[in-house]
Amino acid sequence: MSQRGKHEGGPPIDRRWEEVNPWEHEDARLGPRRLLALMRASLRLVWRASPAETINLLMLQTLSGLALPIQVLAAKWALDSIFDASRSDSGMQDALPAIAVALVAMTAGQIVAATARYRQLLLPELAGQAAQEMLAAKAVAIDLEALETPGFHDRLNRAQNEASFRPANVVADMAGIVSSAVAVVGLAGLLLAVHPLLVAGLLTSMLPLSWASMAGGRAYYRYAVRRTPKRRLMGYLQGLLTRLDSAKEIRAFGCGPYLLEHRQQLFGEEMADLRQLIRGRLRRDVLATLASAAVNGGGVVFILWLHFSQRISLAETVAAVGALLLMLPRMNVLTQAIGQLHENALFVEDLWSFVAVQSKQRTPASREAMPATLTALRVDDLTFRYRDCDVPALRGVSMEIRLGETVAIVGENGAGKTTLAKLLCRLYDPESGTITWDGRDLRTCDPDELRTQIAVIFQDFMRYDLSARENIGFGDVGAIDDSSAIAAAAQRAGAAGFLAALPDGYESRLGRRFLNGHELSIGQWQRVALARAFFRDAPLVIMDEPTASLDARSEHELFKTMRGLFHDRAVLLISHRFSSVRMADRIYVLRDGAIVEAGTHDELIASDGLYAELFSLQASSYMERPD
Ligand SMILES: Nc1ncnc2c1ncn2[C@@H]1O[C@H](COP(=O)(O)OP(=O)(O)OP(=O)(O)O)[C@@H](O)[C@H]1O
Ligand SMILES: [Mg+2]
Repeated sequence: MSQRGKHEGGPPIDRRWEEVNPWEHEDARLGPRRLLALMRASLRLVWRASPAETINLLMLQTLSGLALPIQVLAAKWALDSIFDASRSDSGMQDALPAIAVALVAMTAGQIVAATARYRQLLLPELAGQAAQEMLAAKAVAIDLEALETPGFHDRLNRAQNEASFRPANVVADMAGIVSSAVAVVGLAGLLLAVHPLLVAGLLTSMLPLSWASMAGGRAYYRYAVRRTPKRRLMGYLQGLLTRLDSAKEIRAFGCGPYLLEHRQQLFGEEMADLRQLIRGRLRRDVLATLASAAVNGGGVVFILWLHFSQRISLAETVAAVGALLLMLPRMNVLTQAIGQLHENALFVEDLWSFVAVQSKQRTPASREAMPATLTALRVDDLTFRYRDCDVPALRGVSMEIRLGETVAIVGENGAGKTTLAKLLCRLYDPESGTITWDGRDLRTCDPDELRTQIAVIFQDFMRYDLSARENIGFGDVGAIDDSSAIAAAAQRAGAAGFLAALPDGYESRLGRRFLNGHELSIGQWQRVALARAFFRDAPLVIMDEPTASLDARSEHELFKTMRGLFHDRAVLLISHRFSSVRMADRIYVLRDGAIVEAGTHDELIASDGLYAELFSLQASSYMERPD
């Protein structure tokens, strides 16, 4: 299902991905409105992940906030009772109920805090999964061009690494703020009864702490943005050093130590940056703590002065000093939570602005359904340039493929053959010129719908480390359970023999990445990829070097099969093998992105141009005797 244009419950942002460049939210500042919007969006995400756990979290946090003022009140009551009991000589039993209540309040508070601590572990897991799914859905729906932009991957990488816990953190911070605020307000109420100046002092002492915490959060976010490209490179190098597909070459060429050193160097740079960040945060925190301690110290002196000038009783003095001392850690928690909320919200902003960006390829609002057939696919004066490239990969290309025809494209490496195949699948849109499907411009077609009408095998086809059935079934996921159709596609691609011989037949896992996987040869993988294309019942078939890894006999067999199989399709064949190209109804020759020759094999040989030259070069290398 396409995710284009969906905000997934996030705060509204409407930008296309190519306008979000660089893919960074560098200024690291959030206004109050944006912050509120992000808090709402995080709450929605977390709520969607688990309403029960969200309620649990909010409830337990608020309860643990209430526990502290209750504990202090109980302690004050207990103290009062002890003083009264000792003054009136009425005995210990008068003080006991108050002490018992204070102890019960303390224990209950601890139990609530412990429950909150453990229950909190669940929500980030659930919300993290929901965020990861959102990211994957976006990545799979966005234009291919976006995935070729390094900034996109930096952003995705950051979003993926942080998505797992930041939205849940925002909610936990919100709850933490509520809970600490409840405690602080409760305790402040006790102080207010003693003297209003104490509360004013307390609020002042929070300012430096909040400033340090917010500035620290911003600095951390900027650091995270700076380190992402390096982290990605480090991850890539780590992959090269540890993955199966690079293992052969890395060993054969002995480049492991070189790659390792490169990785270490990057890590060293990152650590230097992190050390600097930590120094800055620590400096700010120490300064803020000193400033706040000075104000609070003044508060304690003021309480003592109130007592010794006979303005408040001993019990009031002890309770006020106690409340102040208990408040300090709570205030610290409160200011930390405010700073963390800001920091977490910056990462959530990152996540949402990533999820909210729109594809460049927009499907028109009123769209007709794609025709299920194809009479003629026409390419007219097509020019295309890859993003950030000066030289066009295709220049003024015009060609046609009609139903029942096999059209071949030949040309040297880098001529633009694969690029043309990708444009026909609307993986990119042309810079100028048009591609029309029975007269309908591809730009007016929904890309997903268009692609259901095309069976394509790419030059760099995928090898899925999944079952053989899935490897073929991905050609038409709707029919993935149709075992007999899958076997028939494998048969046509010459893959049935070796797949059926696997221990679990088509259910056997291919590749060696996971347990009980079976590795295939490259040619066998190519046949599986061919079977995938054959499995899709589509009027347009595009094959980019479909037989590059096949042996001569298999290639011959395959083309014999294909002639029968595709007699009622339009086939575009890209190949360097002239033996397979020569049977095409029409051949286009691409050079530096432009079509320089077109015709049948015989016509092109007769015209003695590039095709004839390439053909005779290949043919002669088969015929010539080595000296
Ligand atoms: N994703 C991309 N981004 C930027 N440039 C690209 C991209 N893919 C290909 N190119 C460039 O476009 C040109 C055409 O590439 P293309 O892959 O279409 O060649 P080709 O004819 O298929 O070559 P080959 O025979 O090697 O498969 C090349 O110069 C290549 O460097
Ligand atoms: Mg190619």
